Amino acid sequence: MAKKPRILVVDDEHTMRDFLTASMVGKYQVRTASDGKEAMELLRRQPADLVLSDVRMPGGDGLTLLAEIQQELADPPIVVMMTAFGTIKEAVEATKRGAVDYLTKPFGLDQLEHTLKRAFELRELRDENRSLRTSLKAHREQHGLLGNSQAMVQMREKIEMIADSRGTVLLQGESGTGKEVAARAIHMAGGRRNGPFIRINCAAIPETLLEGELFGHERGAFTGAVQARPGKFELADGGTLLLDEISEMPLSMQAKLLRVIQEREFMRLGARESTRCDVRIIATSNRHLKEEIRAGNFREDLFFRLNVIPLVIEPLRVRKDDIPLLVTHFVRLFCAENGKPVMQVSETALQGLLAHDWPGNVRQLQNVVERAVIMTTGADLDPRQLDLQDEMNHDTDGEQLSEDLTIREMEQELILRKLNRTGGNRTQAATELGISVRTLRNKLHLYQEQGVSIPG
Ligand SMILES: Nc1ncnc2c1ncn2[C@@H]1O[C@H](COP(=O)(O)OP(=O)(O)OP(=O)(O)O)[C@@H](O)[C@H]1O
Ligand SMILES: [Mg+2]
Repeated sequence: MAKKPRILVVDDEHTMRDFLTASMVGKYQVRTASDGKEAMELLRRQPADLVLSDVRMPGGDGLTLLAEIQQELADPPIVVMMTAFGTIKEAVEATKRGAVDYLTKPFGLDQLEHTLKRAFELRELRDENRSLRTSLKAHREQHGLLGNSQAMVQMREKIEMIADSRGTVLLQGESGTGKEVAARAIHMAGGRRNGPFIRINCAAIPETLLEGELFGHERGAFTGAVQARPGKFELADGGTLLLDEISEMPLSMQAKLLRVIQEREFMRLGARESTRCDVRIIATSNRHLKEEIRAGNFREDLFFRLNVIPLVIEPLRVRKDDIPLLVTHFVRLFCAENGKPVMQVSETALQGLLAHDWPGNVRQLQNVVERAVIMTTGADLDPRQLDLQDEMNHDTDGEQLSEDLTIREMEQELILRKLNRTGGNRTQAATELGISVRTLRNKLHLYQEQGVSIPG
């Protein structure tokens, strides 16, 4: 490490903070915070290499801080806990959850130095491991964008060609075609791969919050803005920003976005000065933006700004050559996930899949395969479990299952309906579901534990 390693000390006692700062300041860049909340604010603004945190603090304890660091930060610092005699149990728990070590108070300078040194060695190992893993994975999976159809091969070629440029990309395609996968592939294929990849779903954020989410705000910018907060543009600096479902962005925000793209700088809410940013923008839409322009819902000038590099992902029905490869991939994935040996896919099963039109595209194919893997008991993927008519419409009573359910919810719903129909006869239900009675019993037991009432 050429620069001085950056350490953030978190402790509610100022004597402790002063003592630690004084002991470390020559060798490290030291910042301090008095609780977990303040620590997170500091970390969001400027990363650290190591966090040395007390376990118990009145405002936001060490374990919570540890969890937030791991969940929220793209490049999380390593965490070392400090614990008084009474809180050793919590410190040990912290190491189970990913803290690299802990120090028991009171500790001497030697002990501190030794612990820090070992912690930094661990961090280096971890970083090496991680970059090795990501480069291997990217290579193996063609950045995750699988498919050997003409359309997919060309898509990957285009991605290689444009990955290093900064031109804004507009990715259009039906829902489930793999727009997000393609966006990540673009990020991973270019020089920004080590920078952040930040996604914002324009459809999921209420209009009033969108501006703050995109551009961040200063402290006091509005009621409740007790701390300054960076927006997605700032977080994506040096990397890629994915504006998902851009067609859902309100017109007022479209005007602001247009300005940011033109000027390459933006203002945090409540700020006096603008901030420059180096961000590669990828926008996606599953609606026809040209039609949205005609209907007055989308700005034409923004469209042209975004559409520097247009990419269209074809629906799965016009690139069915991809289906066998995708099926093999998903079968492997879900067999592994469910702890089953890899299943074979028979010609019959594959023919059925190839004959389907896949209105939900790759996502639907993935769901169908996952469900079939879960429901199959033998060594071959059971073609009877590949329900292609309209998702889950077969032989269930009453209404169709909603597409919004997760696989597990669908499975549960299907099992309960079947039990209802067999009047609670588990052997018959199991046979009809194509699973063993034991599997059925285990699943019912699980549902019961979650408070679901079982028919029969
Ligand atoms: N070419 C592909 N190779 C592997 N997996 C894929 C591919 N395309 C899509 N998938 C998988 O299908 C699912 C849907 O893909 P993704 O979320 O990228 O679709 P999308 O076009 O963004 O859909 P939406 O418009 O609904 O957001 C994901 O789970 C993704 O992993
Ligand atoms: Mg998407």
